[in-house]
Amino acid sequence: MAYLKGGGNRQNIWEEGQKRMETQMLRAAIDELNKKGYLQVCDVEVEPKFELGAVLKYFKNEVPILFNKIKGSKMSVAGALFGNREIYYEMLGMKHEERIFRMMDAIANPKATKLLTKGPVMENIITRNIDIPRMFPIPTFHEKDSSSFITSGIVVLKDPETGKRHISVRRLQVNGGNEVSILVASSLANKQFFQMEEQNKPLEVAIILGYDYSLLLASQISSEVYGADKYEVDSALRGEALELVKCHSVDLEVPAYGEIVLEGIMPPNRRKEEGPFGELMGYYGGAAPHPVVEVKTVMHRNNPIFQTAFPCREEHLSNGLIREIELYTAVKNLADVQDVNVTVSGGCRLHAFVSICKKQEGAGKSAILGALASSKDIKHVVVVDDDVDIFDPDDIEWAIATRMQASKDLTIISGALGSGLEPSHSLKGVTDKVGIDATKPIGELGKSFERAVIPGYEDIDISKYFPQYKNIQKDGNAI
Ligand SMILES: Cc1cc2nc3c(=O)[nH]c(=O)nc-3n(C[C@H](O)[C@H](O)[C@H](O)COP(=O)(O)O)c2cc1C
Repeated sequence: MAYLKGGGNRQNIWEEGQKRMETQMLRAAIDELNKKGYLQVCDVEVEPKFELGAVLKYFKNEVPILFNKIKGSKMSVAGALFGNREIYYEMLGMKHEERIFRMMDAIANPKATKLLTKGPVMENIITRNIDIPRMFPIPTFHEKDSSSFITSGIVVLKDPETGKRHISVRRLQVNGGNEVSILVASSLANKQFFQMEEQNKPLEVAIILGYDYSLLLASQISSEVYGADKYEVDSALRGEALELVKCHSVDLEVPAYGEIVLEGIMPPNRRKEEGPFGELMGYYGGAAPHPVVEVKTVMHRNNPIFQTAFPCREEHLSNGLIREIELYTAVKNLADVQDVNVTVSGGCRLHAFVSICKKQEGAGKSAILGALASSKDIKHVVVVDDDVDIFDPDDIEWAIATRMQASKDLTIISGALGSGLEPSHSLKGVTDKVGIDATKPIGELGKSFERAVIPGYEDIDISKYFPQYKNIQKDGNAI
């Protein structure tokens, strides 16, 4: 573990009788990424303002990076861990073809969590003189951002009525001292705060930094749609009980092997201007008053690693993976769906590519209906046959170029409910939707659409012919 400052001891010494390696949360994930050769370690000093984000963006947030020297801080920062699909699958031990069913199974069959009496995250407990910008190397990403932002915190709270646990990622604007502003877009989590506010009571929250692939994915499930305990979905997904500990000053539970936990309250009737902030689709979201969190306690491991997420499309892959379940299910009701892609370039919510095995005329149009109905956020969908690779934009373009006639294959629905997270529509959230049916006709007419094939092409080993090109992929890029 030489890449981690202080050695990063991962031996579990927290539960009686247990002597095994840590398997949960960020430190275990970083170790695994390093073993698999995916981790880049930066030992050159980096400014948290702009420079760190620029390095992450350079690699499109697809290359996990551990920054060991951050100007003005002794802490390392990990970023871009969750932006690459293939790495995501591998870290969860699942194949692309089985991802949707594995996630569905975890949501349908959640497993119990395990409460430990203590855990590494409790190694340091700080209750006084909490000054968040002084304690943590929090990046500022874009020129006009109002402040530095904690962009990857998983916020934990309990429903005041039912006592059910709720977790989700929310961005936090650093206001100075022990205060951050919190942006909550989903109505359910807002409801919990509003309920407490009506009674003039604070809502307790904890913010987790330093989690792993499984917990992030579980956090992205919509509570409104599934009503599941996301910690329990995580246990099912990771194949072992998620190990939790109780917080120090609030009645909440957090992962025992997390790096940092901020505990506090959202006080009633307090709002602070939040934003502008360079957002999901690469534009600035405007400033508006939002609730705040007063941090009362900070718990952290020894030599904690601060976790960040570049506030842009790639980090939202986890959100897109969950949306693919909904898309797949919605289309399955209408057509023989083969695979779905909620694309990264479409912000993991605005664009969908769907492949079907077309058995009847009209199936392409029906698939469009299902896809657009699967989520209000999907704005454009392209439906293709199963001989098209929906993860290859060139193949999608080829299908549109050769299998689509606009007068019959283009569907436009104007003025539907959509996402407010892109600026092209004048009435925020009311948007036009487009479906493109780029499937070929079936029967006799379909015969002229047969793709020309070179037998053996898929298995060709190019290094046999050009040993010097051992690491060159089919598309000409280096591996
Ligand atoms: C990196 C990242 C940042 C996010 N930032 C926010 C945010 O600032 N506010 C928000 O409401 N949702 C944000 N989300 C999306 C929510 O975490 C996500 O929609 C979550 O599933 C909502 O769960 P819920 O429906 O149970 O509330 C973010 C997601 C990711 C992956």
